[in-house]
Amino acid sequence: MCGIVGVLGSHEVAPILVEALGRLEYRGYDSAGIATVHEGQLDRRRAVGKLVNLSDKLVREPLRGFAGIGHTRWATHGAPTEANAHPHAGPRVAVVHNGIIENFRELRAELAVEGIETRTDTDTETVALLCQLFLDRQMTPRAATEATIARLTGAYALCFLFEDEPDLLIAARKGSPLAVGHGEGEMFVGSDAIALGNLTDRITYLEEGDRAEVTRAGAVIFDAQGRQVTRPEKRIAQAAAQVDKAGHKHFMSKEIAEQPRVLAEALRHYLTPEGGITLPEPGIDFTAIDRLTLVACGTAFYACNVAKYWFEQVAKLPVEIDVASEFRYREPPIPARSAALFVSQSGETADTLAALRYARGQADSILSVVNVTESSIARDSDIALPILAGAEIGVASTKAFTCQLLVLGMLALEAARQRGTLDAAELAAHVRGLRELPALIEQGLSIEAECQRVARGLSEARDILFLGRGRMFPLALEGALKLKEISYIHAEAYASGELKHGPIALVDEHVPVIVMAPHDELFDKTVSNMQEVMARGGKVLLITDAKGAQVAAEGAWEVITLPEIDPLWAPILYALPAQLLAYHTAVAKGTDVDQPRNLAKSVTVE
Ligand code: F6R
Repeated sequence: MCGIVGVLGSHEVAPILVEALGRLEYRGYDSAGIATVHEGQLDRRRAVGKLVNLSDKLVREPLRGFAGIGHTRWATHGAPTEANAHPHAGPRVAVVHNGIIENFRELRAELAVEGIETRTDTDTETVALLCQLFLDRQMTPRAATEATIARLTGAYALCFLFEDEPDLLIAARKGSPLAVGHGEGEMFVGSDAIALGNLTDRITYLEEGDRAEVTRAGAVIFDAQGRQVTRPEKRIAQAAAQVDKAGHKHFMSKEIAEQPRVLAEALRHYLTPEGGITLPEPGIDFTAIDRLTLVACGTAFYACNVAKYWFEQVAKLPVEIDVASEFRYREPPIPARSAALFVSQSGETADTLAALRYARGQADSILSVVNVTESSIARDSDIALPILAGAEIGVASTKAFTCQLLVLGMLALEAARQRGTLDAAELAAHVRGLRELPALIEQGLSIEAECQRVARGLSEARDILFLGRGRMFPLALEGALKLKEISYIHAEAYASGELKHGPIALVDEHVPVIVMAPHDELFDKTVSNMQEVMARGGKVLLITDAKGAQVAAEGAWEVITLPEIDPLWAPILYALPAQLLAYHTAVAKGTDVDQPRNLAKSVTVE
């Protein structure tokens, strides 16, 4: 949600900033902008819409300089106009910002008293103007920035650039992630390691409340109390910062195809040769808890929905789930002998982080399942379990979802083992089922051509319904979410049995109904619900396995057949049609698959 970058280079930085912004565009694409200092002059270029508009502008109106900052925006305060685009300038200081300055109205009023007018609708402009005010009072850039930051309430990752100091960037974080990159005689600032992936593999992550004074000689970091501190420098694996499409048309398609490999890697990481599960220290004692609370947003929340079935069915552990944006406002009492687990690809989702902080001090332990291991959620947890999906760039989550499911599935088995709710043979069978997953997913990918064909029909629909029962209900929810976010077709998901309690009124020959039904213990019941739809002229797309197709294909509009699988793990395999149908429907409609309208990858505002 907004990406920021800063470069103190040894040659022209405009192309470097634009390249880095390209790596950050997944965080927002409402506008982009850069500012540089050249021969004692601060200047900026900004453009509405995708980064390509800024690149075009820079061809017409180049920007010179060896020091600069850049920003790609997901609009919160103010429409996506050029005036509202970052960097905002003072005019002798420019700033880029990710987050929300909550007291910006108060700051605006104070600036007005000083005779300083704001010209934009943004919260960030007040930061630039306040810093300029302090500079005008003869403060040094360092002192002016410190005084400015002291006045800010809210969440921010900030990077300041000064007209009079071409060898200085000041970076500060509170509530939004920020990293400093180390080069040879060059230094960088970025929202994440991905931003700096082409520039350096040596990264220092700033901690909550940190402020870094960055020069070409290095970075001096101060903590929230103003004490100089040392933060570790880490080497980032090249692959972690990889953002190419590897020959695919879209990141989403590449990330769907990567699933067999990343799931195999996660299995290798967690499963011992004997079929046990390796957990990070201090481990999790599932016999010491009577309840598990699972909290997340969006797709990660649907992963939690599936996990609730797993923990309750195999480990007999009661699970409470909630979306993070509601969790703390419900003020749920968290009883003794309970653990809270937060699931997040980015590890930076503001609502999930706030929910985690609500649970801290109440739950016996705070666990997280994250993709970005250096994220705030990972760092604030007692135990953070990585999903090892690699960088996910497509805004619609795909491989992170299946990897989240895999890690949650392994945890549920571990809970069952510790609590003695499965016998050794049952456990071994489910572990075998897990080990077969990468091969089954690989095999399952062969439905792509069929999904592409069926998607042409789906792309003409105005509304689409998804149905699933039991563990497949959350998959129906995920299928509907995926479809609406990238194809903009209205889609709803219902538990199959719920349809006749109202939503069946929506069914007619124009509304495709996608039924997710592996041939498991609930198959017959789901098929009855499917018959009810067909009896009313509904157009059913049945997604099942060979056994299911054999008994229930008749009368269906289309049938997509997946390999047979241990029914417990079917949700992981059935994610494939959910993803592929959404992907090909969006492609058929010609929407922007990787950067759908109004969305951003990492939601760091409430
Ligand atoms: C949907 C999607 C979102 C995210 C949600 C949580 O495809 O990607 O619904 O799942 O914003 O994000 P994380 O997992 O980063 O907390």
